[in-house]
Amino acid sequence: MSATATGPLGGQRILLCVGGGIAAYKALELVRRLRDAGASVQVAMTAGAQQFVTPLSFQALSGHPARTTLWDSAAEQAMGHLELARWADRVVVAPATADLLARLAHGLADDLVTTLCLATEAPLSVAPAMNHRMWRHPATVANVALLRSRGVQVIGPDDGPLAEGESGPGRLSEPDAIVDGLAGAPAAGRTPATGLLQGLKVVVSAGPTYEDLDPVRYLGNRSSGKMGFAVAASAARQGAQVVLVAGPVQLETPPGVQRVDVRSAAQMREAVAAALPADVYIGAAAVADYTPRAFSPDKIKKTGTGETLALDLVRTPDILAEVARQEDAGLKLVVGFAAETTNVADYARQKLEAKRLDLIVANRVGVPGAGFESDDNAMTAYWPGGERDFPAAPKVRLADGLVELVAERLGA
Ligand code: C5P
Repeated sequence: MSATATGPLGGQRILLCVGGGIAAYKALELVRRLRDAGASVQVAMTAGAQQFVTPLSFQALSGHPARTTLWDSAAEQAMGHLELARWADRVVVAPATADLLARLAHGLADDLVTTLCLATEAPLSVAPAMNHRMWRHPATVANVALLRSRGVQVIGPDDGPLAEGESGPGRLSEPDAIVDGLAGAPAAGRTPATGLLQGLKVVVSAGPTYEDLDPVRYLGNRSSGKMGFAVAASAARQGAQVVLVAGPVQLETPPGVQRVDVRSAAQMREAVAAALPADVYIGAAAVADYTPRAFSPDKIKKTGTGETLALDLVRTPDILAEVARQEDAGLKLVVGFAAETTNVADYARQKLEAKRLDLIVANRVGVPGAGFESDDNAMTAYWPGGERDFPAAPKVRLADGLVELVAERLGA
C-alpha cells in the first residue's frame, strides 16, 4: 500500500525499528499514526521486540512483512537489508531501549536493527523507553549525548508511571507526540523543494566560550546559545548542510545538524577552520575577547596580604574576521552578530566594515525580554547599502527571518 502525499509526513518512507521493551505494544499504534500522517512504513524488530509483540501484528498494520533477522534468505531476496536501509527517508527507533541506544551510540551492527541503522544515510530519530534508573544512569546519559551530538533526534521519554509500578522519566512518548516530533524534522531527500538554502553548506558558531584560569575557574559570559542554535535549525529546515560549532551550552542539537562541541575560543577557532570550506559562515557565538596568558595548573590561592588580584590576559584571535579574510574558504556570505548596549547602529556598521562582513545582526543586550539568556530578541540587520528591522519575537521566529535574509543576500 502506498502512502498518500498529504499529511504532515506526506509521501515519506519510514523504517520503524522496534526494540525489546514492554512499550513495544505502543509501536503498533505508532504504525497506524505514521500511516495516517501520510507515510509508508516498513518495520524491523529486534529479537527482544518479538518477545512482546508478533511480526504478524506489524505486518497487518504496515501492509509489509516485518523484518526480524539478517539471516532470512526469503526476505533478503524480496528486499535486501541494504536496499531497505536505502529505501528509508528516515529511520525511527521506538521503543529505543537502553541496550539499543548503547549499541547505536557505539556503532555496533550485531543484529538486523543495528545493521540497518549503521547502513542507512537517512536521519535517525529515537524514542527511548526504559526504567527511570536506567534512563538516568551515566552510561545511558553519555550514550544519548553522543547520539545527539551526531544529529540524532531524541523524542521523549515522558515522565510518569512506568510499567513496573514506579514513576519517573522513561515512558515512551505517545504515538501522536512521536509523529509531531518527526513532522518537525527534515527527512533525507525530503527537505522542501523550495528550501532556500538547498545544496549549500552553512557553518554556525553559537554559545559562549570558557577561558580556563585554573582547574576550577574560568572566564565566561552569559550567552545561552539559543539564537545560534535557532539559526542552525532554521538553515537545516531550509535544506542546508549545517555544521554547528557550539560553546558550552545546555541545548539539544537541532535535527539534521552536525554539532561540534568546544570550550575555549582557541578550540572554537580550530573547529570552525576544520568545518570550512562552506558557502555561508554565521558567527553567532559570544567569543571571549581575552584569555588568560597562562593556565595555572594549580588552583590560584588567595595571598595573605593582597586585597586585589590582577589577571594577565591576552587577546583571542577574532575568528569571524579571520574567516572573512580567508580567500580559499569558498564563502559567499559571512554574517556576524553584535551585542551592544548603546549606539547600536553605529557600532554595528563599524564592525561590518572593520571585519569585512557581508551582513551584521545587532541586538541590544541589557533590555528586558531581549538579548542573552532570553527566548525572545529584537534585532536589526545591516549590510552595505541596506538594513532590516526584526521587531521583538521569539528567537526561533527571528532565526527564520534571518535565514530568509541570508538567502536573499546570497542571491543579491
Ligand atoms: O567585536 P565583537 O566581539 O563585538 O564582534 C562580535 C562578532 O564577532 C560576533 O559575530 C562574534 O561571533 C565574533 N567574534 C569572533 N571571535 C572573537 C570575537 C568576536 O568570531 N574573538
